[in-house]
Amino acid sequence: MNIQRMQEMANGDSPTYIVAIETSCDETSAAVVRDGKEVLSNVVSSQVDIHQKFGGVVPEVASRKHVESVSWIIEQAFEEAGIAPHEVAAVAVTQGPGLVGSLLVGMVAAKALAFALGKPLIGVHHIAGHIYANQLVHDLQYPLVALVVSGGHTELVHVETEGRFRIIGQTRDDAAGEAYDKVARALKLPYPGGPHVDRLAHEADEAVEMPRAWLESNSYDFSFSGLKSAVMAALNQARMKGIELAPSAVARGFQDSVIDVLVNKSLRAARDVGARQLLLAGGVAANKGLRTELAARCSAEGLPLLVPPLSLCTDNAAMIAAAAFLKLRRGQYSSLTMKAEPLMKLESWSV
Ligand code: KG4
Ligand code: ZN
Repeated sequence: MNIQRMQEMANGDSPTYIVAIETSCDETSAAVVRDGKEVLSNVVSSQVDIHQKFGGVVPEVASRKHVESVSWIIEQAFEEAGIAPHEVAAVAVTQGPGLVGSLLVGMVAAKALAFALGKPLIGVHHIAGHIYANQLVHDLQYPLVALVVSGGHTELVHVETEGRFRIIGQTRDDAAGEAYDKVARALKLPYPGGPHVDRLAHEADEAVEMPRAWLESNSYDFSFSGLKSAVMAALNQARMKGIELAPSAVARGFQDSVIDVLVNKSLRAARDVGARQLLLAGGVAANKGLRTELAARCSAEGLPLLVPPLSLCTDNAAMIAAAAFLKLRRGQYSSLTMKAEPLMKLESWSV
């Protein structure tokens, strides 16, 4: 038991602990979080090395790896937190969206734990987790707009009050992270390609100009598949003409286009709903170019920008615990018959 825990017990304080499990894609993670705010442990085991040789996540392999890791990761999360399993107030788990086989592994582990401990179970929407990762490091003020950009999602979410979500814009085809990964593959960079494209873009002296998909003037939706095709076309045309295109210039042109659209639509959405904060969430929030540009534009408009640290941007269980705390406070629990929902809707998870 750590010193802080001994002091709490001596003072008679009764903090609320949640243990959370996240297995929606290719990271197996378990975390213990106190009062929805303080991360006591956040153990993440990434399968990136395994999927790298296939150039993307292989769902069947992902579920098998989750089965191998989930038990020891939960044990490690308790150990690092210095908390005994029976001390938690609830067991939280990502219910969806995600890969069904992967979700099921976390779901079964969470149900078994909740049942054995006699504690409530809380199913959590993965995107609500990404958004509430910000709560672990910032105080949220409503209404706010969250830009969620990951390998599977690109969404603008209006959060009017705590835990009430409305998707006001989303991608009509590829997610931003997916486009990064596909462009990276065309540039012969390893999977996941986002960080490599980001790095190359920063090394570039010039940019190959790429189109922007603004869509209808009042739309907050996104589209990245045309941009991805434009990158492929530029590479193919150069190859046919025997011209050598600098990969860094291609990466820069692609990244400039993605960032331009993401930043402009986010700021317009924030303005339109009278947001008091703009939140950035999801794996692509690690993008240096996106962070820099958003920070500059938000500062010019006097809009506070909240971005979680990198470890809380990519998939992790602490963010699931943070979101679960909203439900725990309201006594909104899930039943032991809860099903994994690969296509779960964010709005339906609102408190
Ligand atoms: O949120 P996340 O860990 O998993 C999903 O829920 O999808 O996001 C992973 C995605 C991958 O597509 C990866 O290429 C992208 O985030 N990513 C980045 C960067 N770091 C990770 N994309 C652009 N720039 C980065 N620095
Ligand atoms: Zn994610």
